[in-house]
Amino acid sequence: MTRRKLVAGNWKMNSGPGSDDLRAIDEVANRATVDVALCPPATMIQQVHAIAPNVWIGGQDCHAAKSGAFTGWLSAEMVRNAGAAMVIVGHSERRAFAGETDGDVRGKAEAALRAGLLPIICVGESEQQRASGNHVATVLAQIDASLPAASDERVIVAYEPVWAIGTGRTATPDQAQQAHAFIRDQLTKLFSPEVSAKVRIQYGGSVKPNNAAELMSQADIDGALVGGASLDPRAFSDIVHAARAVHG
Ligand code: PGA
Repeated sequence: MTRRKLVAGNWKMNSGPGSDDLRAIDEVANRATVDVALCPPATMIQQVHAIAPNVWIGGQDCHAAKSGAFTGWLSAEMVRNAGAAMVIVGHSERRAFAGETDGDVRGKAEAALRAGLLPIICVGESEQQRASGNHVATVLAQIDASLPAASDERVIVAYEPVWAIGTGRTATPDQAQQAHAFIRDQLTKLFSPEVSAKVRIQYGGSVKPNNAAELMSQADIDGALVGGASLDPRAFSDIVHAARAVHG
């Protein structure tokens, strides 16, 4: 089963590349045989969508509720109406700095699906959890509790070991493949072999042009969620080219 690779850039709270660079990324996306996405700050979704129509746009978060007295938040529907096709939920920075629980993440993922957005659901262990040998249990518990009960192939999982995010320390291709394989086994148990075979599992954590091809050539690694390198248009384009080169 060939899953189409997805390279998504997460700009976090940064303005990202300028218009000319975005147009160049759009050209690369237009020619690519893989899916390319950018997740700018929510206030820039419309603008980036207009400049780069061949790039899928993602939000970085959404609220679980449809509307209401939630000052400062955005509903999944609002994110979609701005031009997004997907939304990141449960990024480790939100889990750490905004105290989001697996239950919160599941609620957001369900809201995304209801609004017609593909949720990119992030999971990943801390350095200490890996050092103590608890990474498998940690990640499986996150999968069990963060994914909607009725998940199907619209769901995207991002395995992002916290110790690899923004640190320049990437998981080795073997470490990443092992994690992706046990996540896929769990998807088979929770949902079905058919759903598990179709769900894309991205790797995230210091993905750069020099490690992207080797990571994405692993059997269960279906793309990359790219933070820092997505702010550099050349580096991001090179990661897209790497995905295209290894696409089965
Ligand atoms: P990084 O971030 O590529 O800068 O490590 C990844 C992420 O946070 O998704």
